Amino acid sequence: MHLFVAGATGYTGRNLVELAAERPGLRTHAHVRPDSPRLNRWRDRFGVRGVRVDATPWEEQAMTERITELAPDVVYALLGTTKKRAKAAREAGQEAGYEAVDYGLTVMLLRACVAAGHGPRFIYLSSMGVKDGVKNEYLAVRARVESELAESGLPYVIARPSFISGEDREENRPGERIASTLGDGLLKTAGVLGLGKLRDRYASMTGEELARALLRLGTRPDHEDEIVEADGLRELAQAF
Ligand SMILES: NC(=O)c1ccc[n+]([C@@H]2O[C@H](COP(=O)([O-])OP(=O)(O)OC[C@H]3O[C@@H](n4cnc5c(N)ncnc54)[C@H](OP(=O)(O)O)[C@@H]3O)[C@@H](O)[C@H]2O)c1
Repeated sequence: MHLFVAGATGYTGRNLVELAAERPGLRTHAHVRPDSPRLNRWRDRFGVRGVRVDATPWEEQAMTERITELAPDVVYALLGTTKKRAKAAREAGQEAGYEAVDYGLTVMLLRACVAAGHGPRFIYLSSMGVKDGVKNEYLAVRARVESELAESGLPYVIARPSFISGEDREENRPGERIASTLGDGLLKTAGVLGLGKLRDRYASMTGEELARALLRLGTRPDHEDEIVEADGLRELAQAF
């Protein structure tokens, strides 16, 4: 089985790529943007695990040609920016906010997969809280991607995790880390009080846990046209 992972350098992506590399029978192309200052570092890190790095530019025609050529069975879209990164990009004269990255690049990849014609399973990393008519900008772009994916004709899985956090996240995100640690503490208490369902739904997952769930969703035949909420992802991670 052949996997193509976009967002391979992210916290979830790198965990997924490295987990897939350990599984027999899986071949992986990890996509890294060609202008990444760490492209060679990723080539080394993934290369020693037998994973090929693909640095196709984020242009629709180039991406369509590459997906057509590789014909992966499963395509993962694990892309996203943050307000802080978007602000830094804007100051450097680039537009790389939620609209351009979380929506724009994901939908470009989706269109490339549809145009390729072989119908890969498309696994989209969305977020808890996505629903029709949601006002928050971050969630609203995800709602649009989800709806385009559902209408694309491709077999798909939408994953909606709560916080993705762990001590092994290289990028420093103190706000997210504090919120998830406090939340996890409260939810642990909820678990003790018999409110396990609440804990399973809202507690954070590490990149490795989420990657396990995503790998299962991509590689097992029984997952198609599914939306998996945070508690379902946790259950799959434990089973795999
Ligand atoms: N963190 C959470 O708690 C949480 C919760 C629910 C859902 N999510 C969503 O899940 C997804 C993955 O989360 P994560 O924490 O694993 O993300 P992450 O570590 O921030 O990784 C984001 C990925 O997107 C790529 N990316 C960002 N800006 C880009 C740009 N301008 N051009 C090309 N690629 C770009 C990054 O590539 P580079 O390394 O090259 O920048 C990286 O591979 C995101 O969509 C996120 O919003 C996150």
